[in-house]
Amino acid sequence: MIERAPDSDNRPRAPFHVAAIMDGNGRYATARGRTRSDGHRAGATAARRIVEAAPDMGVDILTLFALSSENWNRPPAEVRFLLQLLRRFLRLECRRCVERGVRLSVIGSRRRLPARLVAMVDHVESATSAGRRMQLRVAIDYSSRDAILEAAARWAASGEPAPTREGFARALGATGALASPAPEVDLLIRTGGEKRLSDFLLWESAYAELYFTDTMWPEFAPAELERAIADYRRRERRFGLVPRSDPA
Ligand code: IPE
Ligand code: IPE
Ligand code: MG
Repeated sequence: MIERAPDSDNRPRAPFHVAAIMDGNGRYATARGRTRSDGHRAGATAARRIVEAAPDMGVDILTLFALSSENWNRPPAEVRFLLQLLRRFLRLECRRCVERGVRLSVIGSRRRLPARLVAMVDHVESATSAGRRMQLRVAIDYSSRDAILEAAARWAASGEPAPTREGFARALGATGALASPAPEVDLLIRTGGEKRLSDFLLWESAYAELYFTDTMWPEFAPAELERAIADYRRRERRFGLVPRSDPA
């Protein structure tokens, strides 16, 4: 678990959680007369650059949406390619994450994943488990509604009385290798021009600040992440309260 130094008022600072829906690989490639696979490859390179840059921008947790449960219904050749690409991504990221103190974990269902990919996930999660600089979570075969349903079923089976928000967040986080409460998203980025959540981190994003950009994911550079974070820092998060500038 990432722990932050206390704030000036001595309250522990919540980790800064950025989540990204990495959309637009296919359109990036077809606009250039290239294949969708080329687009996904370029998307993986962009993800690598973002992972490398994020810790220096104060990001404590970075969650990347790599493959949704719905994406499984794409043409089988594309799904196969994506699964191979993900395995390769994890293999290459493993050493880099260990060197940089990044803890990598995978969220989502493992039931349908090829055995070789599951083995790679297990390997990377245990090899990077000492990382404290940033937590990188890669969402593979992920559906937020399914994750919520599974957490609800686990809670019901435990025989505990109705959960509190905190209790439910713990049940929701219990699926990941880290088994820590599902972290609240501070900043949710979606590239590719669409303005929807596509079943990503629905519970965790209840009070997330949203950042939508027309940039296709392969072109989403660290400089734009920096702009998104700067934009986030200028916003006032009110959590239902009145503006801070209002007279008491
Ligand atoms: C995001 O890019 C990657 C995945 C969903 C796996 P897309 O493949 O959705 O790209 P577009 O939206 O078709 O351009
Ligand atoms: C969301 O993108 C999933 C990922 C980026 C992995 P999609 O391209 O699947 O989303 P929709 O279909 O446009 O909603
Ligand atoms: Mg898309």
